[in-house]
Amino acid sequence: MRLNSPQINLISKACMKASRSLIRDFGEIENLQVSEKGPGDFVTSADKRTEKILIEELQKAHPDYGIITEELGIINKSNTKNRWIIDPIDGTTNFLNGIPQFAISIGYEEEDEIKCGVIFNPITNEMFFAEKGNGAYLNNSRIRVSKKKKIKDALLVTGGPKGLSKIKDKIFSEYIKVSHNVSNIRKFGSAALDMAYVACGRFDGYWQRELNYWDIAAGLIILKEAGGFVNFFDEDSSFPLKKNILATNSNIHEELRDLLNKKDIE
Ligand code: IPD
Ligand code: CA
Ligand code: CA
Repeated sequence: MRLNSPQINLISKACMKASRSLIRDFGEIENLQVSEKGPGDFVTSADKRTEKILIEELQKAHPDYGIITEELGIINKSNTKNRWIIDPIDGTTNFLNGIPQFAISIGYEEEDEIKCGVIFNPITNEMFFAEKGNGAYLNNSRIRVSKKKKIKDALLVTGGPKGLSKIKDKIFSEYIKVSHNVSNIRKFGSAALDMAYVACGRFDGYWQRELNYWDIAAGLIILKEAGGFVNFFDEDSSFPLKKNILATNSNIHEELRDLLNKKDIE
């Protein structure tokens, strides 16, 4: 049975509309304007165009809602009750290199709680979505996390560090520590799709430091509704939109958390 909530319908229609120009842009990457926000952190005219279309579509229905969006920042700041959290292209580096692993990611928050979310890869035509209490879906099918119980059997995904990261060594040593204890690790370059892939059982778990809230907002509800478990670690209250995340199929959560907390490199 396909979920039919008004918010999901609205977000998915906005995604479908924005994806038409995004698919065109993906076919003509060489014509896009590209600028560098920081070392290795690019923004293209496609990010901006996609963001504009999404905002226009969502605002047609709810002009008063707050919006947190990657390229434009915060819109309708005073409305903290109803908010859209938008990443117009999550996986811009993949997009720029012609790799079809990127997605539009939109979460909807009420009173600081994520109520629903959509992650859409317009190239593979995979739409992951969920609404609180109603399960998680990939296109027309219900999705669930994997059943693996031990991290030694788990396939994990991670990302980072960012070009400007001041904790590169820490991130690399965490990677080594984890890699000694799991079946294997992938690095796919889109946090939103990494979360969605844990939700549908392709990966058993995901961890990453130095994310922004818009990278993972939609993924939070999709993963939870698919039976997964998520927590943030090493939070810094002066930067509430910065996130370090551990997201798993639930079964392996404790074991992976304990491993990440372990001080020594093995
Ligand atoms: C990035 C992707 C990537 C992650 C980076 C993010 P962007 O988002 O999610 O997987 O490793 O930390 O910034 O810049 O492509 O929207
Ligand atoms: Ca992102
Ligand atoms: Ca982005």
